[in-house]
Amino acid sequence: MKDGYGREINYIRISLTDRCNLRCVYCMPDGVQLLPREEILRESEILRIAQAAAALGIRHVKVTGGEPLVRRCCRNVIRGLKQIPGIETVTLTTNGILLQERLADLKESGIDGINISLDTTDPDLYRDLTGGGDVAIVTDAIRSCADSGIRTKINAVAMSLENEPLLEFARDLPVDVRFIEIMPIGYGKQFKPVDNRRILQAIREKHPDMVPEETARGYGPAVYYRIPGYRGAVGFISAIHGKFCGTCNRVRLTSMGYLKTCLCYEDGTDLRRILRDAALSEEEKDRILQEAMREAILKKPEAHCFDEPQSITENHLMASIGG
Ligand code: 5AD
Ligand code: SF4
Repeated sequence: MKDGYGREINYIRISLTDRCNLRCVYCMPDGVQLLPREEILRESEILRIAQAAAALGIRHVKVTGGEPLVRRCCRNVIRGLKQIPGIETVTLTTNGILLQERLADLKESGIDGINISLDTTDPDLYRDLTGGGDVAIVTDAIRSCADSGIRTKINAVAMSLENEPLLEFARDLPVDVRFIEIMPIGYGKQFKPVDNRRILQAIREKHPDMVPEETARGYGPAVYYRIPGYRGAVGFISAIHGKFCGTCNRVRLTSMGYLKTCLCYEDGTDLRRILRDAALSEEEKDRILQEAMREAILKKPEAHCFDEPQSITENHLMASIGG
C-alpha cells in the first residue's frame, strides 16, 4: 500500500529477538535487559502479523534481531513466511556466528538471501568491536553461505577507510560488500559516521575502472558499483550523507510486536495488544490488525532527522529495532 506521502510500502523487517551472542560497541556493549519470554511474540503471532502485512501489500521480509539465529524458531518462521501468499522474498540478517551450523536448515527453509554483518577482517579489531567475537567463524560462514548458492551480502558499518580486506570477498566470491553509515541510534550516537562518499573515493582511487551499476537491484536503499573482474558488487547505504527517505519502502516489527514506521521516531502501533486481546474473536483480530497497520503506515513520518539529533524520539537500542 501507499503511505501518506505516496511511497509504496512493500518491505518489513521483523526482529525475532533483542538478544545477541555478540556485544558490538555501537549496538549493545553491555547486552540487553532480558525480557520475560511472554513479552516476545510467538512464532504463530509473527506469522499472523506477516499475513496481515502481506494483505496490505508487503512483498519482502527481512528476518533480523538482535541476532535472529539465537532463537530456535528462526527456521520455522522463515518457512512459514515463505508460505504466505503475496510474500515474494524472505531474507535474513545475521552476525554469522551461528550461521555455519544452521546453513543447511536455512537453505531448506527456502531463504532467498542472507546478509552477514562484518565490519573488519582483522581478528584483534573484530574481537574489540564485537566484545569477544572470533572473526574466523564468520569469514568461514560467509564462504560456506556463498558456496551453498544462497545470495550472500556483507554489511559493514564503516569504522575507518581501511576496507581493502573486506573487498576481497567481492573479488573472490559472488558476494556483495555494502558499507553502512553508522546511525545515531542507541550507542551509535557515540560514533562519528564515516562518510560513505569518502569510502567511495578511497576505493575509486585504488580501482579507477569502477563503474556505477546501471540497474537498481535489491529492495533497499543501497547504491551499487562494479569493479571489473570482481564477482560481487560494492554497495553503499548512506543513511546520513545520502538521505534516502523519499524512496523509503519499509516498516519494522519489534520482537515485542510494536510496528515502527521510521527508525528515528517512536511512531507506530502496538500489534501485540491486539493479538492478545481476549475480548476479540479471531476474525476480529485479523481485521483490526490490518486496520491498525494501515493506519500506522498512513502516518509514517516523511523523513528521519539524524541531522537534528535533538528531534530523535527513538530511545531504544538498534537491537530492539532490528537495524
Ligand atoms: N548504525 C548503523 N548500523 C547499525 N547496525 C547496528 N547498529 C547500527 C547503527 N547505529 C548494523 C549492524 C548490522 C545491521 C543489522 O545493523 O552492524 O550490520
Ligand atoms: Fe549483535 Fe548485530 Fe548488535 Fe553486533 S550489531 S551486538 S552482532 S545485534
